Parts: sequence; structure tokens; C-alpha cells
Amino acid sequence: MPYSLSRPSSLNTPSFCRDPEHNGVLAACEELGIGFVPWAPLGEGYLTGKMDQNTKFDTKTDFRATFPRMFPENMAANMPVVDILRTVATAKNATPAQVALAWLLAQKPWIVPIPGTRRVDHLTENLGALDIKLTRGDLLAMEEAFSKLKVHGERMSDMHMRQIDPN
Ligand SMILES: NC(=O)c1ccc[n+]([C@@H]2O[C@H](COP(=O)([O-])OP(=O)(O)OC[C@H]3O[C@@H](n4cnc5c(N)ncnc54)[C@H](OP(=O)(O)O)[C@@H]3O)[C@@H](O)[C@H]2O)c1
Repeated sequence: MPYSLSRPSSLNTPSFCRDPEHNGVLAACEELGIGFVPWAPLGEGYLTGKMDQNTKFDTKTDFRATFPRMFPENMAANMPVVDILRTVATAKNATPAQVALAWLLAQKPWIVPIPGTRRVDHLTENLGALDIKLTRGDLLAMEEAFSKLKVHGERMSDMHMRQIDPN
């Protein structure tokens, strides 16, 4: 098999990470009937709209402190991604987190986001994504808006990226 399906493949909201669409992972899943669980479906919390450049990570316990995408300057520069989610969320009476998850759920029936959380209120909010229906028009509009954006900062540190993809 040309692809390693065991490495964590990130697929989250349009433009934040679309690698599996282009590196053959999703095509292999579809061909072989394998489900796909996206890595960090909420962009490790960023796509919820509840983080910004002032968010601090514990450097002893939280890997995100070393992830370029979570550096303050990149969190500030990537805010247009969240703004688009927030716009759709407002129209749907939803939250950015719910729209981010609804977008994943709308892609393929075998793409199954499992957002991580330690909080019941966040779990309840995230489960609300199941009730958000994104129309074809919504998806096209999101795609167009996101296609105009550049994402700033690698999703993980060099060390972590080398661990998941030594080539
Ligand atoms: N990241 C990794 O290294 C890693 C490794 C192995 C497996 N995975 C898999 O990846 C998936 C989840 O990834 P992940 O947990 O790394 O990233 P994620 O689901 O994209 O984001 C989790 C982060 O978002 C926050 N969050 C969740 N719901 C929220 C809400 N409604 N409002 C505000 N903040 C919210 C969580 O904080 P709170 O706790 O405060 O809610 C947590 O910091 C799971 O399937 C997991 O098993 C990830």
C-alpha cells in the first residue's frame, strides 16, 4: 500500500489543513472502505473561536506551546479562518466549533471527527454539530472564502512533523 494510514493525518476546516485530500490518504480510505478520523478536528481548539494570540500554553505539559500554528503571531494572522466560521455560525445559530465539525461531517459519511475535550459543556456544544446542516451553497461559499486565505505556521513542531512523516 503506498500510504501509511497509521500516521496522524490532519483534515480540518477548509484551508486549515487539507493535506489528506492531496496526498492520497482520503482516496486510499475511499478505495479500501476505511473510515478516517481527522487529527485535531477543532484545530487543537483554535477553530472554536475561543483562542487568540493572548492564549497561553503550559510549556511543561502542553505540546501546543511548540507548534508554530499556535505562536501568537500566527494565531493573529489566521483569525480570518475563524471569522468565516463565525459568520456561518451566526447564520445557523451555532458556534464556530459546531460549524467546523459540521463541515467535516458534510464531506464524506466515513469521515468521523472525534473532538477532544475535558469539559462536559464543550462536549455538549460539540455534539450540537450533528444538528447543523450545511447546504451545498453553504459549502461552496465556505470553500470560496477559505480558498482566498493563506494559513500561517506549521501545524506541529519540526520534531513532531518528523515523527509522523520521516520522509
Ligand atoms: N493532538 C494529538 O497529538 C493527538 C494524538 C493522538 C490522537 N489524537 C486524536 O485527535 C482527536 C482530537 O484531537 P485533539 O484533542 O488533539 O484536538 P481537537 O479536538 O482539535 O481540539 C481539542 C482542544 O479543543 C478544546 N475544545 C474542544 N471543544 C471545545 C469547545 N467546544 N470550545 C472550546 N474549546 C474546545 C479542548 O479543550 P478543553 O479540554 O478545554 O475542551 C482541547 O484543547 C481525537 O480523535 C484524538 O484521539 C490527537
